[in-house]
Amino acid sequence: MNEPVLRQGLGGVKLVGRTLCCLAEIGSTNDYGKQLVYSGAESGTVILADRQTAGRGRMDRRFQSPAEKGIYLTALLRPELPPEQLVCVTAMAGMAICDAVEAVCGVRPGLKWPNDPVLNGKKLGGILTELVIEPESGQPWVILGIGLNVKQNEFTPDVEAMATSLEREGFAVTREQVAAALIRALDEMYAALISGDCEPYLAAYRRGCVNLGKAVRLISGGREEPAVAIGIDEQFGLLVRLADGTQTAVRSGEVSVRGLYGYTD
Ligand code: BTN
Repeated sequence: MNEPVLRQGLGGVKLVGRTLCCLAEIGSTNDYGKQLVYSGAESGTVILADRQTAGRGRMDRRFQSPAEKGIYLTALLRPELPPEQLVCVTAMAGMAICDAVEAVCGVRPGLKWPNDPVLNGKKLGGILTELVIEPESGQPWVILGIGLNVKQNEFTPDVEAMATSLEREGFAVTREQVAAALIRALDEMYAALISGDCEPYLAAYRRGCVNLGKAVRLISGGREEPAVAIGIDEQFGLLVRLADGTQTAVRSGEVSVRGLYGYTD
């Protein structure tokens, strides 16, 4: 990552990205971020790596992070909010990713519930949010990890059919352009979160969620259940109608959702 070029693109961010830590290689930016929190990081610090050797995804999956192909970023945030208001941060970050891609490419990705940006039915990246509790104060830190595929032209066979990158979809953009737009969008998102102004993000999420109105499979603990996705609740949970006609809300972390035929559809 060309740090001076990235900094130029940041403009006057209020908090997120005021401190940047650009690395050539690391195991996982989330793991490194936790170390920084324990050694006294500033809230808003952003870590970027050109390559991760042990990039992690949700549900204990690996996240492929080849050198200089994607954005591998972790933002360290210390929101002084009650824990119940933190449940929205990952979905709001998903909207920030969509804002950033739209700003740079002119096309807005959809969001596969709970927080995977998708273009043309394929996964463009993902978010891994973790919490660390500050021992002295009990205050939570949000370790917000984002991976975004920018220049990948190939993926390993296990994800080839469902993954894509901006370049694969025809957008010739630099990682610095996308990273700067993403950090700016995260800075705006964070300001909205701490001021309690989450409604525009919820409305945008409801417009952009690609699952709504579609048949889905709810996958949890090796079991699959058919359902229809019918809405998004106030905490960004997915409202579904089950085969017996009952309606329920499913939470991220409890179930994953797939389309009937592919990743989204
Ligand atoms: C997913 O799709 O399951 C989430 C992927 C999250 C990947 C990012 S890359 C930066 C940060 N560091 C990690 O080890 N993971 C996240």
